[in-house]
Amino acid sequence: MYVKFNPTALIPLGLLVTSAFSSPTFPQQQPLGPNDDLSAALRIHSKKPSVDAESLAATIETKNLLKRAYALYNIAKISELEFGHPTRVIGSKGHVATVEYVKRILSSLGGYYNVSEQVFPAVSGYIYESHLVIGHQVVDHRAMSLTPPTKNKDTVFAGVVAAKNDGCLESDFGEDAKGAIVLIERGSCPFGQKSENAGKAGAVAAVVYNNEPGSLSGTLGTPLEHHVATFGISREDALPILEKLKAGEEIDGSAYINSEVNVIKTKNVIAQTVLGDPDNCVMLGGHSDSVEEGPGVNDDGSGSMTLLEVAVQLTKFSVNNCVRFAWWSGEEEGLLGSTWYALHLTAEENQKIRLFMDYDMLASVNFAYQIYNATDAEGDPKGSEELRNFYIEGYKGLGVNYTFIPFDGRSDYVGFIEAGIPAGGVATGAEGIKTPEEVEMFGGKAGEWYDPCYHQLCDDLTNLDEKAWNVNARLVAKSVGKYAESFEGFPERTPEDAEVKAARKESAKKWKYRGNKLIM
Ligand SMILES: *[C@@H]1O[C@H](CO)[C@@H](O)[C@H](O)[C@H]1NC(C)=O
Ligand SMILES: *[C@@H]1O[C@H](CO)[C@@H](O)[C@H](O)[C@H]1NC(C)=O
Ligand SMILES: *[C@@H]1O[C@H](CO)[C@@H](O)[C@H](O)[C@H]1NC(C)=O
Ligand SMILES: [Zn+2]
Repeated sequence: MYVKFNPTALIPLGLLVTSAFSSPTFPQQQPLGPNDDLSAALRIHSKKPSVDAESLAATIETKNLLKRAYALYNIAKISELEFGHPTRVIGSKGHVATVEYVKRILSSLGGYYNVSEQVFPAVSGYIYESHLVIGHQVVDHRAMSLTPPTKNKDTVFAGVVAAKNDGCLESDFGEDAKGAIVLIERGSCPFGQKSENAGKAGAVAAVVYNNEPGSLSGTLGTPLEHHVATFGISREDALPILEKLKAGEEIDGSAYINSEVNVIKTKNVIAQTVLGDPDNCVMLGGHSDSVEEGPGVNDDGSGSMTLLEVAVQLTKFSVNNCVRFAWWSGEEEGLLGSTWYALHLTAEENQKIRLFMDYDMLASVNFAYQIYNATDAEGDPKGSEELRNFYIEGYKGLGVNYTFIPFDGRSDYVGFIEAGIPAGGVATGAEGIKTPEEVEMFGGKAGEWYDPCYHQLCDDLTNLDEKAWNVNARLVAKSVGKYAESFEGFPERTPEDAEVKAARKESAKKWKYRGNKLIM
């Protein structure tokens, strides 16, 4: 089936859509190869014992998980020639090989799964060099991710002015912004919106300063037509400049960003059991890509390889409900693959997904067992809280402690929540800092990151906690086994009314992150 991409469709923040994407058609969910053997596969697999949570969990072995991590690390090394180090970032050979590896394993399982792929456009950006001078001061800064370069990739010299208010409205930029470098305070709306408004007013560069102590590093997200070269700087550096401007002093500056923003094609892999009620699916996902900086063995090799291992083990059983696995691409660029998928579901397909479970980072070395705190009280789609409660019981059954973490935009469940599909998940922690109380609950080191190699080169084979991985892989297996067996007691899907949708959209506007990216 081919679906022409419709640029006027709902466009959430961070999804990559500009007019540049409207021309080519992107194959939607393309089946891989013929499925003539479908009835034979059905006949064979339906004779297998019926799955349940405990039986599937019992198939998990740490050595199988490690074998997959090892394969993945070697795959990441394919990128060394181009990047100088192992990586599975989108657009790299390592990422292409990751996707091929997943597809190859799934296609070798006797027709147990219908394996398909979904190609979509993704924006990737590189910042080569940047420089910012205000007055006679070189200013410490971070160029925002996905920023366009300054004009002609050259230094621009201009007067410095301050935007009115927080730059979220076009009217916050006066005549004086034309041809100027504009200082804008962080807050109220995404960086991308501020940059767009500055660009519309004719500014040659935008400098967003923090509204809390410390430096500022974020992303402009979805490229927009009027985005200008945009920097992030600290509040401490901005205040003296603002004071001088207020006193009527004229300040000159120069700005330079050499960057590139490219649109590439990348793909999600989807595998659905041929057995099981196709109108009632349990869906789960992990991401196949890593950041550019490293091989991503924990992020999200641990999640994506758990899914693959569970998918392999599931073939020992028959299922009552359909099980759909997803390996998302472009998570690290702002949850692109999962958002694309959820956004392009027809209303009918949407209703067939009873729940979505996100598995991103399951084996952090300084781990905590974290459950996303999805609740009815927060307006999360009905069923999300029941899933959260399942994880609580699951961890109790595995004899370990757990904590709750905010369900606020940092991984691939976002698109599903936006589409009204119940969602949740577990993780072992990224760049958060472990507390002394958590050391009592889980062991490890207080005051350090849960994953000390988060988004770094050292996210390699040494960056896995085998025990945590085993516990979480068994939990994932339980979650698949349970819902593949039955949805008894789990809320039915019903189309949500517009009011509920609007309220959720409004509350999502407060989220400062999309994936790992600070957006406002
Ligand atoms: C396999 O999945 C694709 C994508 O969802 C779908 O178009 C196709 O009809 C499915 N094939 C079978 C045999 O179920
Ligand atoms: C989980 O969310 C609920 C509803 O918003 C809230 O009352 C509760 O305090 C949260 N729990 C934790 C541990 O954050
Ligand atoms: C759970 O946490 C408590 C402290 O809150 C600790 O005493 C106990 O040993 C922990 N249990 C396990 C299995 O780690
Ligand atoms: Zn991740």
